[in-house]
Formats: sequence, C-alpha cells, structure tokens
Amino acid sequence: TGAFTYDPGFTSTASCESKITYIDGDQGVLLHRGYPIDQLAEKSSFMEVAYLLMRGELPNPNEYDEFVRTITRHTMIHEQLAMFYRGFRRDAHPMAIMCGVVGALSAFYHDSTDINDPVQRRIASHRLIAKMPTIAAMAYKYSVGQPFLYPDNSLSYTGNFLRMTFGVPAEPYEVDPVIEKAMDKIFILHADHEQNASTSTVRLAGSSGANPFACIAAGIACLWGPAHGGANEAALEMLREIGTPDKIPEYIKRAKDKDDPFRLMGFGHRVYKNYDPRAKVMQKTANEVLAKLGVTDPVFDVARELEHLALNDEYFIEKKLYPNVDFYSGVILSAIGFPTSMFTVLFALARTVGWVAQWNEMIEDPAQKIGRPRQLYTGATARDYVEITNR
Ligand code: CMC
Repeated sequence: TGAFTYDPGFTSTASCESKITYIDGDQGVLLHRGYPIDQLAEKSSFMEVAYLLMRGELPNPNEYDEFVRTITRHTMIHEQLAMFYRGFRRDAHPMAIMCGVVGALSAFYHDSTDINDPVQRRIASHRLIAKMPTIAAMAYKYSVGQPFLYPDNSLSYTGNFLRMTFGVPAEPYEVDPVIEKAMDKIFILHADHEQNASTSTVRLAGSSGANPFACIAAGIACLWGPAHGGANEAALEMLREIGTPDKIPEYIKRAKDKDDPFRLMGFGHRVYKNYDPRAKVMQKTANEVLAKLGVTDPVFDVARELEHLALNDEYFIEKKLYPNVDFYSGVILSAIGFPTSMFTVLFALARTVGWVAQWNEMIEDPAQKIGRPRQLYTGATARDYVEITNR
C-alpha cells in the first residue's frame, strides 16, 4: 500500500525534464532541439545531428570539422576486444554480441568512467559514438566468417561503416553515394526519440552512477525486444511471410483478432496516434534506394498494399494505428544487403547518439537522483515463518 500513483507502462508519468527531443504524437511531429525530423533527414548528416543532440545547437563549419575529427580519432577498438568476439558461437544473434561487447568496453576505458568529470564524460561519449560502427560491423563479419576490417578514417562515419561491413581485404570497396546517403538518413531517423524504453533504461541505469559503457549496454538489451527496436526485424519477417498481396487480408484479420497474439509489426506506437513522421521519410527513401539498386522486391509491394488496406480498416482507424519508423526500414536495409538479424544492431548504432545525449543531460541535471519507482504491493500480509518439517 501507500499513496503512490499507479501507472503501468508509464503512460502518463514524466520521468525527467529534457531539452533534447519534442514529440507531438497527435499531430505526428518530431523535433530535435526544435528542428523538424524531415528537415534534418533531408538536409543534415548523422554527424551533424549527433552534434546537435549532444550540444544543443547546429555546429558552424569549424565546430563540425572538429567534431568529426574527434569522433574519427576514436573509431578503432582495442585489439584485445577483437578476441572477445571469438568466444561467441558463430550463429550468435548479433544483438547478443552487441550487449556483451559494448558492456565489455567498461573494462578497457578506465580513463573515461568517472561520470562526475565532464571531460571524461565527453571522451566516453565520443568513444561510444565512434566505436559503435566498428563493433557492429565486426558482429556482422564474425557471423559470416569474414575477417574484421579496420576503420578507414578517410571515409565518412557512414561510409566507413558500410566498408567495414561489406568490404573484404581482397578487393577495393567503393562506397556508393546513394547507399551512403540512405544509410545516413536511416541513422538520423533513429538517432533519438525522447523517453522510449531503451532511453529510459539508459537513464535509470545511469542514475545509480554506473559507467556509461555499462549503461549503453543496458539500453541495447532493452532495444532488442520485438515491441521496440526488434520490430524492424520482425516487420520484414512478417512481410516476407505474407509474401503476396492477396494474403494481406488474412493477416489483417489475424491482427484484429483478440484471441490471436499476432500484431502487425511496424504498426502502432505508444506516442504517435498519427502517421509517424519518420515513416514518411523512410517510405520515400525506400523508393529511392530500390530504384537506384534496380531492386524489385515483392516485399515492398506487400508493404505498400498492407499500409493502404490497414489505413482504411476501421480497427486501425479507431485505434489510431499507423505505420511507424520500422515499417519500411527493413525493406531498405534488406535491399542494401543487410541480413534481418543486423537490423536492430543498426538501430542500436544510431540510437547510441540519443542515449549518450540523454545520459549526459541526466547527469548534468541538478534535480537528478537515483531512479527508484515505488509499487502497489499486492502480496501476502505479514505471517510467521513455518519450519520446513511442518509444511
Ligand atoms: N497490430 C494490431 N493491433 C495493435 C497493434 C498492432 N501493431 N498495436 C496496437 N494494437 C492494438 C492493441 O491490441 C490494443 O488494442 P486494445 O485496446 O483493444 O487492447 C491497442 O491497439 C493499443 O495497443 P497497446 O499495446 O495498448 O499500445 P502500447 O502503446 O502499449 O503499444 C506498441 C505500442 C508499439 C508496443 C504496439 O503498437 C505494438 O506492439 N506494435 C507492433 C510492434 C512495433 O512495431 N514496434 C515498434 C515501435 S516504433 C520503434 C520503437 O519504438 O522501437
């Protein structure tokens, strides 16, 4: 008992004050530091958005160059960390590898774990953002049995990631600018989303004073679930399972059936009760990438038709269920060549920027205390212990 507000799923509890991201779910608006997400996706770059989220303002050219130089300086990971990968089964899910490897960073960077020192916090933040593409690409390389590639710091953040993922030492790798741009846009669209489950996890873990590498590993663990970051993987698997547009009504019927646990993956959102603004950009990008690659993936037709039918169905209208960011992202990622198991890893890579920005904001907030929710106790009342022989 106790005079606590009961709010399962935190649907009406603000856990913090934040200046980073604004969402108006009814209008379908998403702003980072005031800037609309569609403008950032179309005009900015992931590195610039990272700067914006972390520092609060868009950088001028000098600030931008300095930031990119700093991030670039930290792209390599310790050689001993490469050995860590070899302990995983080669068919391990890359998200399992990510949880482990990112958590293990804490064991390597003792010089950036004093969270009360702003300089150390900044170094840790840069390290996390810089090393994430290297760690993610290595998780992929490990699963396909190809050698790890070192970062090439002459490339962009995103170009470097593409090369480390798809390049091989035996051949030169040309970064395709259309793919690079599309990938960068996908990273921007996933960079931050205020107090979602994984970000709240990072903040809660960080509220105890835990080191930032461990906190981000906690965020990755939370992101993995199919109701959150795992939805992009689940959405593409669903679209492939549906296979042809004629099967869609059957799946819509199942999604509406209360006795069937099936949900339309990539549909619905806790906050958006309107079209997810990120989904709009994603759909456009899917068009561009497929056209550029000359890919005609039947899954894209299924996605478009499914969206059309669901948006005209009473159930989805009434419950205000619209496509979310993950509905179209899988179509693009698969056209680029990523296996579905890597989709959530890409989400984690991008969201690291938001996690780091939010973690820093929390530590710097004078009102910050350890996160400690209360409960409504519904268990047994006080009773006396009974010796085991008498039970
Ligand atoms: N398909 C069918 N019905 C749905 C769906 C869906 N995708 N999403 C919600 N509903 C129904 C749900 O059954 C419930 O009906 P009722 O009120 O009759 O019980 C109603 O809509 C409200 O759903 P809820 O589960 O209470 O809402 P929530 O805010 O707790 O859940 C969600 C939000 C995103 C977890 C949920 O919409 C969902 O499971 N969607 C599919 C998974 C997905 O695409 N997740 C990615 C979210 S965006 C990226 C991210 O945040 O990582």
